[in-house]
Amino acid sequence: MTQADHVTLESRDLTKTYYSTDPPTQVLNGIDLSVREGEFLVVMGASGSGKSTLLYSVSGMDRPTGGSVLLEGRDLTSLSDKEASRVRLTTMGFVFQQAFFLNNLNIRDNILLPALKAAPKEKDAAIARVDALLERFGIAHVKQHGITQVSGGQLQRASICRALACEPSVLFADEPTGALNSSMSAEVMDALTDVHRAGTTVVMVTHDPACAARGDRVIYLRDGLLVDTRELGTWSEDEAGRREDDLFAWLRKKGF
Ligand SMILES: Nc1ncnc2c1ncn2[C@@H]1O[C@H](COP(=O)(O)OP(=O)(O)OP(=O)(O)O)[C@@H](O)[C@H]1O
Ligand SMILES: [Mg+2]
Repeated sequence: MTQADHVTLESRDLTKTYYSTDPPTQVLNGIDLSVREGEFLVVMGASGSGKSTLLYSVSGMDRPTGGSVLLEGRDLTSLSDKEASRVRLTTMGFVFQQAFFLNNLNIRDNILLPALKAAPKEKDAAIARVDALLERFGIAHVKQHGITQVSGGQLQRASICRALACEPSVLFADEPTGALNSSMSAEVMDALTDVHRAGTTVVMVTHDPACAARGDRVIYLRDGLLVDTRELGTWSEDEAGRREDDLFAWLRKKGF
């Protein structure tokens, strides 16, 4: 990272302990992280290393036990639950392994929902934005379909549209391809690469080196600590194979 880089999201000495278990589970043990504006950051590590917890803690979905999280310099940990949920709605987008769409709404209305919640009086603008997103991610032809009438790859691209509907500055994705076969996974990664190229900051958790190789930088967690970082530089299709091999070799050395 250079001096000129603008930091969008930052955590300092971030800790998270779950007290619901006996003994308490210490999941994050002091994570300092800076995400550059427009960066595609990938979070990797063994199952249980704290990747999802890190994502939830830096996005304000879950309250950390200690430390601070700064989004554009604003401390999210000092906000009330209501303020934090407004910040999430208007500046962050989320994509999970499962889509969490409502069964009784079609694809387009599911995508529209958060945009209407964020700005109920700007319905026409929201519809125009959502229709443009549906076109951009190649699913306009299934917008009237129910959520069980599309493929897994289409559903995840719809999740990406929903995450972008309020024009967030950061998109968080937790194993967005975890439930997909390799061709659908590539479709979704193409969509996320497109999001990143358009300037949105992306923070993605994945177990898949092929997906991780799309990122600008990979961080590796072990037992709730950030133990290593790999700068990959900008992804290009020509170099996809080499990047993947390189990343895989790096991961293997960590016992991945
Ligand atoms: N609500 C909770 N209460 C108690 N312990 C929890 C809770 N949520 C997570 N944990 C524990 O925290 C640790 C880290 O969980 P987390 O979900 O962040 O891991 P992960 O790296 O995302 O794993 P995976 O790759 O399997 O998704 C695990 O040991 C898990 O059991
Ligand atoms: Mg997880």
